[in-house]
Amino acid sequence: MSYHTFFGLKGQPFAADLALDAILKTDDLREVQQRILYTIELGAIALVTGEVGAGKSTALRWVAGGLHPSKYKPLWVTATSGSILEVYRQLLAELDIQTASSSRAILTGLIRTQILALVQSKKQQPVLIIDEASLLRLDVFAELHTLTQFEGDSKPYLPIILAGQNNLADNLLYRTAVPLASRIVARRHLQEVNREGMERYLDHHLKIAGLKHSPFDAQAVTAIHQGSGGLFRKANHLARGALIAATSEKSQLVTAEHVRRAASELF
Ligand SMILES: Nc1ncnc2c1ncn2[C@@H]1O[C@H](COP(=O)(O)OP(=O)(O)O)[C@@H](O)[C@H]1O
Ligand SMILES: [Mg+2]
Repeated sequence: MSYHTFFGLKGQPFAADLALDAILKTDDLREVQQRILYTIELGAIALVTGEVGAGKSTALRWVAGGLHPSKYKPLWVTATSGSILEVYRQLLAELDIQTASSSRAILTGLIRTQILALVQSKKQQPVLIIDEASLLRLDVFAELHTLTQFEGDSKPYLPIILAGQNNLADNLLYRTAVPLASRIVARRHLQEVNREGMERYLDHHLKIAGLKHSPFDAQAVTAIHQGSGGLFRKANHLARGALIAATSEKSQLVTAEHVRRAASELF
């Protein structure tokens, strides 16, 4: 029997693709939102850091989703290879610009023209969001600074939200990154949650999956909290794995032993 049927779940529990209104509104989320709104107002730069799976991308998605589309245009870039060309390509796509050119001068020209058009003609505030910015090569920070300078530094047209792992903050200390880093006005580090926060998190996801009462006993919650180090993505895998382990034993109660069995298969 599948664990869905055994526990009476509707849909995939502990999913990654939560609808905006299904995201758990934590204090961290509100703190991130407040800083991003402030940063946009100033046309400055904000930093969101945290370990893998702490909830950075989800927080950004929630905040960006709350920006009214008639006033704001979030421009999403995910820095997987870390090169400036990749950033330009994704940015052009977000700005609905098609070009076959790979000349950096032409690409930056196109991007800057479109940013100006958004701000000046369409009265729409673009917001550059760079996720996984800890993967950006160091020289990219200098280029980003040039890209987003309008009339010297006097026109802060393009606020930037940089999200990534903790080394992002260190990378911004390098000499080539200093001009960009000097525009940072807000920063939030997403902490690993405590046990109480983890319990609330698990209950939230179980409710989304259709369960009013959690099948996890107290020790199982503690085991998930400890095994995940308070990080949500790892907790998702542990909790789902534990449900599967409990199903194979036909146990409606999920215990620490089930969590341990799930943990033995994860990295
Ligand atoms: N506020 C939240 N509410 C509900 N689930 C969340 C929340 N934040 C994170 N998650 C869950 O944790 C997973 C990892 O979060 P994610 O934002 O991808 O982390 P990061 O970007 O820091 O690596 C998400 O796929 C989602 O399932
Ligand atoms: Mg992420």
